Amino acid sequence: MNTACDDIFYITTPIYYVNAKPHLGHAYTTIVADVAYRFHKMKKQESFFLTGTDEHGDKVVKAAQNDNMTPKEYVDYISGLFQNLWPDLSVQYSQFIRTTDPNHMQTVSFILQKIYDAGDIYFSEYEGLYCFGCERFYTERELIDGVCPDHGTPPETIKESNYFFKMSDYQNWLIDHIKANPSFIRPERYRNEVLSFLKEPLDDLCISRPKSRLTWGISLPFDDNYVTYVWFDALINYISALGFPDGKNYEKFWPKAQHVVAKDILKPHGIYWPIMLKAAGIPVYQHLNVHGYWNVDNSKMSKSIGNVVDPLKLKDIYGIEAFRYFLMREMTFGLDADFNESALIQRINSDLANDLGNLVSRTLAMAQKYFKGIVPDISDLRNDHNAIENAAEQAIKNYDICMQDFAFNKALSFVWDFISQMNRYIDISAPWELAKHSDKEDDLKPVIYNLLEGLRILGGLIYPVMPLTSEKMLALLKEKPGNFNQLSWGQLKAGTQLEKSMTLFPRIDTKKSPKETQQKQKAEKKLTNLKPEITFEEFQKIDLRVGKVISAEKIKDSKKLLKLTVDIGEIRTIVAGISRHYSPDDIIDKKVVVAANLKPAQLMGITSEGMVLAAVKKKKCSVLTPDQQVPVGTSVQ
Ligand code: MSP
Repeated sequence: MNTACDDIFYITTPIYYVNAKPHLGHAYTTIVADVAYRFHKMKKQESFFLTGTDEHGDKVVKAAQNDNMTPKEYVDYISGLFQNLWPDLSVQYSQFIRTTDPNHMQTVSFILQKIYDAGDIYFSEYEGLYCFGCERFYTERELIDGVCPDHGTPPETIKESNYFFKMSDYQNWLIDHIKANPSFIRPERYRNEVLSFLKEPLDDLCISRPKSRLTWGISLPFDDNYVTYVWFDALINYISALGFPDGKNYEKFWPKAQHVVAKDILKPHGIYWPIMLKAAGIPVYQHLNVHGYWNVDNSKMSKSIGNVVDPLKLKDIYGIEAFRYFLMREMTFGLDADFNESALIQRINSDLANDLGNLVSRTLAMAQKYFKGIVPDISDLRNDHNAIENAAEQAIKNYDICMQDFAFNKALSFVWDFISQMNRYIDISAPWELAKHSDKEDDLKPVIYNLLEGLRILGGLIYPVMPLTSEKMLALLKEKPGNFNQLSWGQLKAGTQLEKSMTLFPRIDTKKSPKETQQKQKAEKKLTNLKPEITFEEFQKIDLRVGKVISAEKIKDSKKLLKLTVDIGEIRTIVAGISRHYSPDDIIDKKVVVAANLKPAQLMGITSEGMVLAAVKKKKCSVLTPDQQVPVGTSVQ
């Protein structure tokens, strides 16, 4: 699936739902996009990398309710976690889009109106099987033993009038397009999957949700009683971020668009999205690159199993470079892969510490010892030992093809083949023997030069995957990464004073007791879910007061909420999500801390005039109370 290399490159990740914190799966897709982005930039293509968060829909509203936040507070918080995470994983995106951005919302309205005006959206009553977890209707055929394949719960039959998008009209066009463009969806297994799905008649897509059921979304421009279905809203991010319809970035980058997604969202990207684009008169994307799923210790990652991998924890223990290398090396793009920590440690010790790290330190040590750390001049010498030059050229060529084809693990295995050739070259040419004889200096010089030049090329090749190591390695040779053209043989300058070597990757001691590892982890422990920093002035805006609960009662139909009357120097009604932890009797007469200038909010039909502060961790909740007698109304600083 080789692609011709143009001078423009546009790559996107899915925009992630904000109903869960970022995990290994999100990290993988985003690192893939980052690696591809850095590679194409290194090839001097003008490149753009988009990521972001998908913030509308039922799921978000439910998650916000669970955490006692408004949808807006909640999406700001989780979107912030994603935005804060990426720099820690050395991800350098060009733009972060949120579907709550006003620009995006306007573009969605614009496109809906366009498709509506063209007659491809119609209004109809529909009765169907709806899964609230997936926020979509299912056909009987799609259910497994009558339950939702993702949630394992039976869907509910609901009947409502809605707007539908005539996808069926475009089915034959899409089949023809996929057949005429073999790399439109790649790898091939996913192209085949979409084609086989398209053998059955395509249902029209319900693209609205009545506001009676959901208000957290983008209103339909032609009917204010409805909001837009999340997928119709979310997919448009790929062009709204570029300033569609007349933004300069749209004009420049959209014709070269490549999406990266996992197999879970093949259908919206392989079917809905191209049809939406076609119906709106917009050219379709160039490639949809689909990868498999990371499982953990051979099972699906899931909150209920408790095996969700936090990328920041791994980064803190093993370092970001090793983590990125492992992800790119271990997964064959397109297939599922298994994550386990011992495989990660094995890769660090053998590929990074042993093969690469030792090669760097051995080579530099020899250059120091035999040539005082100065790159030898071989311009007048025969360079007979340059099997390394041929090996380097082969490695660069194969690497280049694989990187363009998203075959990252293959690209890296070509690089590591080259590393093995270099290590063998040292053993075969035995520089320490040549150094024993002063008349062999002209033989020794090319060996050391070839090795140093090989390191320079390696340093360049690893840049997209391990940018920091690449920088460190090249700094030893007084070089900088980031230019593929500089990877041709023979550019290392004679006379360069080399830096002293350092350990690039310390070996991980596999014999250390789990306790020692835990202690290390504790010492390096950092908060991973810290909200974005605010200034003192911003904090000062919050008015916190001591209050006393005068009365409390359960709220009908709610398992979580208690209605409190609190004296904070004036009487307030406050709805608090503490009913699972405090009975009305437990809380009456307690002194509490109240956020007193919070905008009132409606909860279960009651106006809540403030918020009671509590420490909340998983299923535990403990309200904050002053440890000494202080009058109500006292300010909390
Ligand atoms: N919001 C939609 C995408 C809209 S794009 C217009 C969505 N969000 S998501 O948060 O559920 O992210 C799904 C994506 O996260 C997958 O397609 C994949 O990129 C990544 N992954 C989530 N779990 C994963 C694994 N276990 N393994 C690999 N990647 C996975 O769907």
